[in-house]
Amino acid sequence: MDTVVEFRHITKRFPGIIANNDISLSIRKGEILAILGENGAGKSTLMSMLFGMQTPDEGEILIRGKKEHISSPLVANDLNIGMVHQHFMLVENQSITENIIMGIEPKKRYLGLFPYVDVQSSNEKVRELSKHYRLEVNPEDIIEDLPVSTRQRVEILKMLYRNAEILIFDEPSAVLTPQEIESLLGIIKNLRESGKTIILITHKLDEIKKIADRCAILCKGKLVGVLDVPSTTTQEMSALMVGRDVSLTLTSTEHTQGAEVLRVEDLTVETNDHIRKVDKVSFSLHSGEVLAIAGVAGNGQVEIADAIAGLLPVKEGSIFLDGQEITTHTVRQRIEAGVAYIPEDRHSVGLVLDFPLRENLCLKQYYQEPYSNSRGVLQQQQMDALATELISAFDIRSGSGAATLARSMSGGNQQKAIIAREINLQANVLMFVQPTRGLDVGAIETIHKKIDELRAQGKAILLISLELDEIMELADTILVLYNGRTQTIKSASTMTKLEVGEYMMGVHVEKA
Ligand SMILES: Nc1ncnc2c1ncn2[C@@H]1O[C@H](COP(=O)(O)OP(=O)(O)O)[C@@H](O)[C@H]1O
Ligand SMILES: [Mg+2]
Repeated sequence: MDTVVEFRHITKRFPGIIANNDISLSIRKGEILAILGENGAGKSTLMSMLFGMQTPDEGEILIRGKKEHISSPLVANDLNIGMVHQHFMLVENQSITENIIMGIEPKKRYLGLFPYVDVQSSNEKVRELSKHYRLEVNPEDIIEDLPVSTRQRVEILKMLYRNAEILIFDEPSAVLTPQEIESLLGIIKNLRESGKTIILITHKLDEIKKIADRCAILCKGKLVGVLDVPSTTTQEMSALMVGRDVSLTLTSTEHTQGAEVLRVEDLTVETNDHIRKVDKVSFSLHSGEVLAIAGVAGNGQVEIADAIAGLLPVKEGSIFLDGQEITTHTVRQRIEAGVAYIPEDRHSVGLVLDFPLRENLCLKQYYQEPYSNSRGVLQQQQMDALATELISAFDIRSGSGAATLARSMSGGNQQKAIIAREINLQANVLMFVQPTRGLDVGAIETIHKKIDELRAQGKAILLISLELDEIMELADTILVLYNGRTQTIKSASTMTKLEVGEYMMGVHVEKA
């Protein structure tokens, strides 16, 4: 098979780190090559050199057998290389077509004199392209009105409009729901069928197994293997990626359910414009229990957690913590009463990026002893000790321990730091929303084990996740939410994954 891209001895350094270390890799025309690696392994860096956003310190890149100096994305463009980034780069208040043709607008001349952009014919071309590749969009829609999955299709169309032949996807499924992922994988397969070469960066082994032909594995900046996917197990891939054996399924620690800790009665939550997001939901959560709320994104699960945390007002119903009603308590009162919240939007509980880990891991406790003394002076040694302990307990990869700047860490490790800090607050109720979203298998394993450990210690855990596998693995009780209403609430051991999925879609009918 023809080689379209060849990396030869590529090395790329950033201050204090070798992001890519002597990488040689060939990519074949018409294949789907997956790039797998933990957070910070160097995947995005390698691809950003192919796309001209970075240039290698050493080594060379050959495109279709010819040595190229890819000094900018424009050069990449001319070489028919396109990339869909982790964070989309679209202009919110413009239409799909305007975004797609940006920079290469077809110009017409009015009266043969005044140039203007021919939006009409561009719309047509986008429509054709969208039909041809089965990427349904309406070219005239404005970006800000569109869900994430459609924005992603726009990014894909943007590459295709520019005649890209080598398509790079940087963790495209991290932002999608299970159904959207299925459809994306279908789209990627289609693209391969039309002869495109696909490079797919992902953490998700099952996705690789489903569509990739080969898989290149990076570990700490080095290429540790290139595998033929059909003949390799996911177990083998993850072991190479993490550098050790990883258990992909958790065997839960023995735990016994204790007293009721949190009770929610007929909880109803509405948005400002009176749209009912949560409709009369009731459940009770016990010490030593993981209660998972399953549902397709946007069915009210996050609003339940927000209402319990005090971030959204309760329209009707009540919330009790240890038998005390907290329905109208302030956020701070709830935190002090023992409710910890690790929300989906990690920026709101996020990190101070320009602070070292030491301060970040202590962000909610620094004013208390032993981290401050009685005169309010910060005790660096105590903070250091806490940071070092959490770094090791949560396997936070940080270049220089407690002194590492949060900004310099990879996204996954930033997430681990936030989760470590919140867990360390010793709350009795912990709410996790999508705790492993976007993380690699090694980090997922660490967090799942942590949740299991907390349960064994008698904590009460509310888990909200879009990953059914995660729910099936951890939950004692599953509540399925659909349109804000409880479809079912049952012991996890009495339901199959398939059944939960049916409840999520609102199609399951109880057998008589
Ligand atoms: N522009 C940059 N400046 C400094 N360090 C960077 C930069 N880009 C990436 N890094 C570092 O290089 C390493 C590899 O990062 P990256 O390629 O983004 O990893 P991955 O995509 O596999 O998660 C990480 O330690 C990251 O912090
Ligand atoms: Mg990356």
